Amino acid sequence: MLDPLHPLLRKAYDPERFAAMGQEILRDLTDHLRNAQGRKADRSMPWVLPEEERSYWEQRLLRSEGLPALLREVVARSNGLQDPRYMGHQVAVPFPDGAFVGMVTDLLNNGGAIYEMGPTNSAMEEVLMERVGLMMGLAEGCGGIMCHGGTLANLVALLAARRAAYGKEQDAWVMGDDGRGAVLVSDQAHYCVDRAVRIMGWGAEGVGLVATDERHRMTPEGMERALSAMQEKGRRVVAIVGSACTTSSGAFDDLVSTADFAEAHGIWFHVDGAHGVPAAFSEQHRHLVEGLERADSIAMDFHKIMGVPALCTGLFYKRKEDSFLPFTQAAEYLWSDAEDPEWWNFGKRTFECTKRMLSTRVAAVLEEYGAEIWGVLVDRLFALGGALAAAVTARGSKGWELAMEPQANIVCFRYLPVGREWSNVEAQNAFTLDLRQRHLEAGAHYVVQTRFGGKVWLRCTLMNPLTEASDLEAMLDGFEALAGPPITPR
Ligand SMILES: Cc1ncc(COP(=O)(O)O)c(C=O)c1O
Repeated sequence: MLDPLHPLLRKAYDPERFAAMGQEILRDLTDHLRNAQGRKADRSMPWVLPEEERSYWEQRLLRSEGLPALLREVVARSNGLQDPRYMGHQVAVPFPDGAFVGMVTDLLNNGGAIYEMGPTNSAMEEVLMERVGLMMGLAEGCGGIMCHGGTLANLVALLAARRAAYGKEQDAWVMGDDGRGAVLVSDQAHYCVDRAVRIMGWGAEGVGLVATDERHRMTPEGMERALSAMQEKGRRVVAIVGSACTTSSGAFDDLVSTADFAEAHGIWFHVDGAHGVPAAFSEQHRHLVEGLERADSIAMDFHKIMGVPALCTGLFYKRKEDSFLPFTQAAEYLWSDAEDPEWWNFGKRTFECTKRMLSTRVAAVLEEYGAEIWGVLVDRLFALGGALAAAVTARGSKGWELAMEPQANIVCFRYLPVGREWSNVEAQNAFTLDLRQRHLEAGAHYVVQTRFGGKVWLRCTLMNPLTEASDLEAMLDGFEALAGPPITPR
């Protein structure tokens, strides 16, 4: 005889309790949104030392005060992306209604590798990957898969490139490869390309770094030199990766010359467009990704400048059928024929087995706003990047320096108050690192840092479209106040 349902399980699945709790949490979250947008907290990022935060949770997690109370603390102690003073890393400030999608899809949990586990999810994914691809300017025949993050999408794309390069005689997915493959990528690229190549077993030597110009864009000579260097080492270059855009400074590689190079040498052309490919949705900025349609594959994060919560990435292929290149595996508990290109069983094409209901997140944006909102968002965020660059330049006489004119919403700059002296660039770097740390601890805004050209830079990624010019000025004022007054030479 089966025991009656345990009271804990009855409680957990009680619809009335769910409704009451939902109302309370929704009220709290709406308050959070109002307060964040109103810049009500002293600091958008409530920084505390990692050890302090850990001991806080060590204590707090010994008590149970109910889910709404726990969530209120999580909200209060989290980095406030919805606050217009957030201008740090490249994570979307999600359109708030996306939270409802998360709630619904978390409850349904139709996250499967196969159609039967999530019929709406896999059908919508197939439709959207083709439709969004066409909207981005790709040709008929495009399509692909959604996955958990740009890092994973770049790895999967390179697996496709490897299989295409090694061909049928030595099917790299079945027999492995000769360990002598290589990929060319900008010396400014995100580390995940290097990581993917090492995971594929080609080691650090399998990455051919392409030299960049003063604006951090790969040069045609750099591509040729990197290819020759690899060939001299006996490496088989299977792909070149264009960055659209780079992470540190937001530089867009010239995709037209990269496509020309890939075609001339018969190699796969992949675009790591995790951050910047949404420029394709903006009339004003589309020129930055000219040549995108010639790429064999493109990774684009919906969870960066497309307003969707992390993680949600599209891996687009010029030829939809190439999405079956990376993996072919038998799994008798999931599908009957490993070789059959069934689009509806997307586990055949994704690294993940179970994955979240990603397509609903993208469908939600299109349902409420249409693709227009992506162009509008790009225009706003890139304009904020331009406005910050102009504000930094205008303060040049005080010691502010812009690393380069931004192409996107990523701006790098530093502040070395005039009249102060530093013995060398490392002393300047130490000053900038210390200034940024003190700003993290006490500043109202959230700003990060990077390093290139031997110099440490403050770095802003303008992700929140509600940020105003006054926020940018206030952020610069904040750094000036922390640095102390400039010393006027007598
Ligand atoms: C150019 C680029 N590629 C890849 C990534 C990694 O993407 P994800 O964090 O989605 O794995 C990033 C993250 O910032 C990026 O800027």
